[in-house]
Amino acid sequence: MIILKSQDEIKRLADACRIVAEVLEGIKQGVAPGVKTIELDKYAESFIISRGARPAFKGYRGYPASVCTSVNEQVVHGIPSLVRLKDGDIVSLDIGVYYKGFYGDAALTLPVGKGVSAQAERLIRATEEALNRGIEKALPGNRLSDVSSAIQQCAEEEGFSVVRNFVGHGIGRELHEEPQIPNFGRPGQGPELRDGMTLAIEPMVNAGGWEVAVLDDGWTAVTKDGSLSAHFEHTIAITGDGNVILTKQ
Ligand code: MF3
Ligand code: CO
Repeated sequence: MIILKSQDEIKRLADACRIVAEVLEGIKQGVAPGVKTIELDKYAESFIISRGARPAFKGYRGYPASVCTSVNEQVVHGIPSLVRLKDGDIVSLDIGVYYKGFYGDAALTLPVGKGVSAQAERLIRATEEALNRGIEKALPGNRLSDVSSAIQQCAEEEGFSVVRNFVGHGIGRELHEEPQIPNFGRPGQGPELRDGMTLAIEPMVNAGGWEVAVLDDGWTAVTKDGSLSAHFEHTIAITGDGNVILTKQ
């Protein structure tokens, strides 16, 4: 069942989402060659706690950190560590916050330093564009897979592929609510989108094939062919005549 939210509930969800946007903005400034991903995690965790919120991922099914830091061929759920970012890497940062009863969730991918390849830059741009094209289709009266299909088309037009194994999701009083939101598929399928639905849309796009594998740590998803991967996510609310992006500052 897809849980519709009232205006008041969306306001509270927006408060959680604002904290997510602020953490991402802050953590962005800290991304540079030589920085350890665990330092980014520490920064995010203290920021979230200082705002009276709780990191939503820490302890979720045993996940050990507040942020997912996925470097290069890592797709999602990379665990922050003592490994230092290098010039030319790309890093995806995914953050979830729980605040006063509601969750916010967002992600972005950044180049590290100045030495990022043209292909990596193109992958990052295409993934963000795919998210935006999906959000443009997240309108009342449209069907859920109109979003999925727009994302897939955008990524594939650029010669990239969308990950199948992980999906976006409804969000609210739970981090993961119905519906699941695949990043591929034919348009015109699935539930009709309605005023009051709150969704976390999150394309993961690979430079090579879409297949992924999970490392022995039980979390880190990597591309099977070792190609680069990017990830962007926003939490949005469907309104009477469009949508609002809640994790945008
Ligand atoms: N944005 C991801 C999701 O919504 C991040 C979850 S990481 C986890 O599923 F550690 F919490 F699993
Ligand atoms: Co999510």
